[in-house]
Amino acid sequence: MYYSEDLIEEIRMKNDIVDVISGYVRLQKKGSSYFGLCPFHNEKSPSFSVSRQKQMYYCFGCGAGGNVFTFLMEYENYTFVEAVQFLAQRAGVELPKMEYSREAKERADLKSLLLEINKMAARYFYVQLKAEQGRIGYTYLRERGLSEETIKAFGLGYSNKYSDDLYKFLRSKGYKEEQIRQAGLISTDERHGVYDKFWNRVMFPIMDVNSRVIGFGGRVMGDGKPKYLNSPETLIFDKSRNLYGLHRARSTKKTYFLLCEGYMDVIALHQAGFTNAVASLGTSLTTGHASLIRRYVQEVYLTYDSDEAGTKAALRAIPILREAGISARVIRMEPYKDPDEFIKNLGAKEFEERIEKARNGFLFGLEVLERDFHLEFPEEKTAFFQEVARRLTEFEDELERSNYLEAVARTYQIKEESLQKLVTKMAVRTGMAKPVERPKTAASKPVKKENANQTSQKVLLTWMIEEERVFQSVCPYILPEDFTEPLYRTVAGLLYEQYQTGEVNPAKIINHFTEEEEHREAASLFHTKIQKISTAEEKERALKDSILRVKSNSIDVRIRNLDPADIKGLQRLMEEKRNLGNLEKLHISLE
Ligand code: UTP
Ligand code: MN
Repeated sequence: MYYSEDLIEEIRMKNDIVDVISGYVRLQKKGSSYFGLCPFHNEKSPSFSVSRQKQMYYCFGCGAGGNVFTFLMEYENYTFVEAVQFLAQRAGVELPKMEYSREAKERADLKSLLLEINKMAARYFYVQLKAEQGRIGYTYLRERGLSEETIKAFGLGYSNKYSDDLYKFLRSKGYKEEQIRQAGLISTDERHGVYDKFWNRVMFPIMDVNSRVIGFGGRVMGDGKPKYLNSPETLIFDKSRNLYGLHRARSTKKTYFLLCEGYMDVIALHQAGFTNAVASLGTSLTTGHASLIRRYVQEVYLTYDSDEAGTKAALRAIPILREAGISARVIRMEPYKDPDEFIKNLGAKEFEERIEKARNGFLFGLEVLERDFHLEFPEEKTAFFQEVARRLTEFEDELERSNYLEAVARTYQIKEESLQKLVTKMAVRTGMAKPVERPKTAASKPVKKENANQTSQKVLLTWMIEEERVFQSVCPYILPEDFTEPLYRTVAGLLYEQYQTGEVNPAKIINHFTEEEEHREAASLFHTKIQKISTAEEKERALKDSILRVKSNSIDVRIRNLDPADIKGLQRLMEEKRNLGNLEKLHISLE
């Protein structure tokens, strides 16, 4: 913790959430809340709500939500501390420097120092490109069809032929060797001493969503190897959480992103007017990328290379996107290799047509699968459709499954009923219809169990947050310590305190979490809606069930952590466990 909780709370209270968000989103008052178009996903009618009374925001469309700090962390990609600093300044609250721990301050300072060095380097490369010695790089880029404007917009540059040019420049600006190394811009070897990582390459600065330079890609201007050299991961450069071009694509009006493979593809697409193009940074798509994308759009059109490797990469990306709630389509670019070459040869209009004709990700998967079968042989055809049916069983949602079933039947011109029969047969065969009997591997079991406990703790806690009545019925049985997940236990502790002293203040509880992941997780507790259960009786049963599960898990964990010699302790816990039986008979009333 860098600043005291009181100070953070003071800053939060001095920055009214409606005022702050109004600077980013046009809000209109409706009843006691304010509504606007959600900045975290694309929508046509407003489902983004901000409550002045609770000092919280929530989107009914995409589920984003939190307090004023969360908003800035999400919107500006700030860390918690950066959000605090920004709002302190906004409200004219002076921040004491001393409250940093030395370690934390050094880390924060190092981060901004590395950003500064990268920014200097990008400027330097850009100047070189425009200078006489950079003509070769400039010509290369222009010959690849990039306009002056595009070169400027993406801050492209050139690294000199001399192998310690940048190093000397940065040293002359007062940066230390060690700092430049930590920025990923130099290497050292015994024979040559210190030398620049990039030389004689055209340079592509990589920026985060807020247009801060976090690293570089450098391309040889010919056939040398490696074709692209990239900055190593550093304190500020995490390849799996950044996308090339996102700082521009984030403000697109389109409801989808074009996801491609290369720097040049992104640039060519933007130049051709497709300003919604992004690329992963020479790595395959990760869940980190997917959740980053999900903050802006719910749909992605993959424009990966049309070769074997590109196809494989697309097939890997589709389920990752799907997991994050993003649907994928695949753009066919044949006979060209990538979007850059396609546009150069056929132009933007043709590309637009390919976008319109993009295939749905699932059907694309089948098309690739088809290549392994000779459908003219009956037995291979049968095998193919068996695999298709098996894949269809993987859709858990019935409506979704039947929609795909219909699409498959239409595409392959087979009868829907026969495909349906095959799906049912496959479902039984693979055990999908009877999830209880599904084989459990030894390795997956404990993980599953842990998740179930986590879920019931989360559900119970969310419910207690949402309804005071639920809190009152639960608190005689469950203590904050019964939440075995550290984050939930902390939230529960604060919640119990607040209920005891009066009103619940979710925005204040969220302040407590300064690590980004924890902050998001804690914020999510306050805007997860409990599925509305219809009758009071059902509700009471569900509640009792949750209490029992949380309590029983808590006892199990305590038994596991017990000193084996502590027989008394064990007896007491066993007793507690037996008493759970009585709890089961209890009537918990929500009246
Ligand atoms: P490609 O080899 O498809 O190159 O690599 P490209 O984007 O078409 O590049 P041009 O058009 O020849 O200039 C796709 C991406 O993979 C990463 C880079 O991010 C590149 O943009 N890559 C590729 C590397 O990091 N290193 C390499 O040596 C090659
Ligand atoms: Mn290319």
